[in-house]
Amino acid sequence: MHRIVRTDFSSWSPQVGADESRALAVELELGKVIHLWHLPFTIAADERRYLDPLWLSGTHKSISFDPTRAQVDASLRGARGAPADLLAVASMIGRFRHCATMLVRVLFPAYAADLRPAPTSLRLGDVETYKLSWRKDDTLLHVDAFPSRPNRGERILRVFTNVNPHGAARTWKLGDLFEESAREFLPRVPAPMPGSASLLRFLRLTKSRRSRYDHIMLSIHDRMKQDREYQERASHLVYSFPSGSTWICFSDQTTHAALSGQYLLEQTFHLPLDALYFPERAPLKVLERLSGGRLV
Ligand code: SIN
Ligand code: FE
Repeated sequence: MHRIVRTDFSSWSPQVGADESRALAVELELGKVIHLWHLPFTIAADERRYLDPLWLSGTHKSISFDPTRAQVDASLRGARGAPADLLAVASMIGRFRHCATMLVRVLFPAYAADLRPAPTSLRLGDVETYKLSWRKDDTLLHVDAFPSRPNRGERILRVFTNVNPHGAARTWKLGDLFEESAREFLPRVPAPMPGSASLLRFLRLTKSRRSRYDHIMLSIHDRMKQDREYQERASHLVYSFPSGSTWICFSDQTTHAALSGQYLLEQTFHLPLDALYFPERAPLKVLERLSGGRLV
């Protein structure tokens, strides 16, 4: 199966017909990546200097922006700099957030009413030099699952734009289809420790209660990254996203790894299953089918 669908859209608010929109959503829901080959995000001349890891604070590899955080100066995390610079960084990331939101609403009107934007990230680190622990090592194939943000089966839809100012591509590897990975790893998922979901919530290590689904997705994420033999066997495609291009995927379903690149903007959305054309293809439904029981 082809894993990448290339489109020629070159605007954040493209003209798209109902049939085309549905066709693209169907590809997305199969776990494919939609590559908007001609869609750059414009960085102004006086913003170029913010494309530099020197603005990262501590050990973060990205800056995260969330305009819903209480105070304006709390909207950025992982950044350091003078207040005026932080404001300019926030404004640049905020512009991307706006563009990405407009794009998915226009491309996928059927999702529009139910999309909930999560924080936006500006990934300044070089993929190859920012390898942290194996769990955070995104150069290994994985599906996205967030330890502190249980989502009880809701989808993770992500928009990425490569903003590398030197023209370097961002290269990804794509792996098995979700169901194949799930068949492989589900039997290896350990039972959750009794009481662990309540304890994690009590300690505020999770923002809401971790469901059985969340436990399984995190286990699949971890076991997949730890399995060297699987990493070799399941690597089906290496694909480079040129600088100045944008791509979209359901990253909870598309097994992916970032092999190289630097300077990326990323917007995450959460989407309930009801909004999908084919909810039965969602990881929650696949896992429930394979395990024979409800997981949320
Ligand atoms: C990831 O989501 O695994 C990393 C994607 C990237 O940084 O290119
Ligand atoms: Fe990921």
